[in-house]
Amino acid sequence: MRRLIHPVTITMVVLTIIISLPFLLPEREPMVYSDDELRERVLPTKTTTIPQSYDKLLKLVDNPNNPMTVQKIALGKKLFNEKLLSKDRDISCATCHKLAEGGDDNLPTAIGHRGLANPSHLNSPTVLNAALAKSQFWDGRAKDVEEQAGGPIQAPFEMHMRPNEIEDRLNRTEEYVSDFREVFGVDKISFQNVRDAIGAYERTLLTRGAYDRFLDGDDDALSDEAKRGLTLFVTKGCKVCHSGISVGGQSIQKFPLRRYLSDYIGAILEPSIKIKDSPFPFENVGGFLGRDDRLKFRVPILRNISNTAPYFHNGSIDKLEEAVRIMSKYQLGNEFTPTQIDEVVAFLKSLDGELVEYNISKDSMSHSITR
Ligand code: HEC
Ligand code: HEC
Repeated sequence: MRRLIHPVTITMVVLTIIISLPFLLPEREPMVYSDDELRERVLPTKTTTIPQSYDKLLKLVDNPNNPMTVQKIALGKKLFNEKLLSKDRDISCATCHKLAEGGDDNLPTAIGHRGLANPSHLNSPTVLNAALAKSQFWDGRAKDVEEQAGGPIQAPFEMHMRPNEIEDRLNRTEEYVSDFREVFGVDKISFQNVRDAIGAYERTLLTRGAYDRFLDGDDDALSDEAKRGLTLFVTKGCKVCHSGISVGGQSIQKFPLRRYLSDYIGAILEPSIKIKDSPFPFENVGGFLGRDDRLKFRVPILRNISNTAPYFHNGSIDKLEEAVRIMSKYQLGNEFTPTQIDEVVAFLKSLDGELVEYNISKDSMSHSITR
């Protein structure tokens, strides 16, 4: 009897109980919300859905330093599709950002001037809804779409132009001289004007889909499977990073957040993936390590994600299911089951949308915000 209550025995018993607790307790039921409760979870007071009218669009995205006007948007659209902006007159923004195909190029990495690939093997992100992001590029180095637009024009592996070459070319084109005079009241076109016009146009590239219709009150817009996926997205923590009206683009976060011993063992067994060059759960093609080489990335926008494969900054992952599995394991530390992955993917598909036609007419011009 004495032996039984020996402190070591007691400690052993207590430890055994603690260790087996997770197996003894009944598994927690997945959360089930009513449609209204789910909407409340998704929409914090400040967030709304993608607006359908030009007035509301201006309230959401207008830039006081570059106020949107109807003419400026039209000029920006022309420039977005203008191959004159590239050295060999063969590449426009639309070459890599195809609006009808999810706003990207569907390639693992971007191909620009004379067939050159992005030196860091970076994947082209979508331009759709990019204006809603708090920063631009995979490392968030540009603050808005106006600043961003200067990048690809000058990158030697994209459009390979210098600002003065752009200015010379456009100032020699009668049609553009008159367009820019009308929009900016200038006699000579500047590189800044070009960026501003393109930025104003990009601010109109917002898409609406089933997700917006559900949040606006249409219970039938999402299937039950997609609602379960949305519930997981909200309750398990995906939404902490992929937040806001654009479902991403609002912050810079570390990826991967967690490492697993099994990955190191896997890397030893699989010689093609060298852990030394691969801090990621996939091959480190291109060697890009995010902002300041610290594995920090601007969180991608998940609207239209089903149309923007392949995934991640270097386009290493082809399947959306695999992207979701990696996220659940490395960002949440809670690897989803195949059923949960299917549910989340069903939800992510509800983020596909159509470009909103803002019926931008001459009348809307007077509505443009003047600050
Ligand atoms: C050769 C292909 C290519 C061309 C041409 C190109 N882009 Fe991109 N775009 C990319 C790549 C690749 C990135 C990501 C680069 C990075 O993060 O460093 C990118 C990033 C962007 C982003 C940031 C989106 C986000 O969510 O961070 C926007 C906006 C954008 N491009 C708009 C434009 C505009 C406007 C033009 C024309 C002036 C243009 N692009 C021309 C490939 C291209
Ligand atoms: C801690 C922040 C964080 C959390 C939590 C998080 N993500 Fe991400 N997500 C990121 C970052 C950062 C990237 C970009 C990583 C890269 O490209 O290297 C990303 C990329 C993605 C991509 C690929 C996007 C693209 O355009 O290539 C998908 C899809 C995605 N996340 C879905 C999810 C889902 C679903 C969840 C929940 C299971 C989730 N994320 C949780 C930060 C997060």
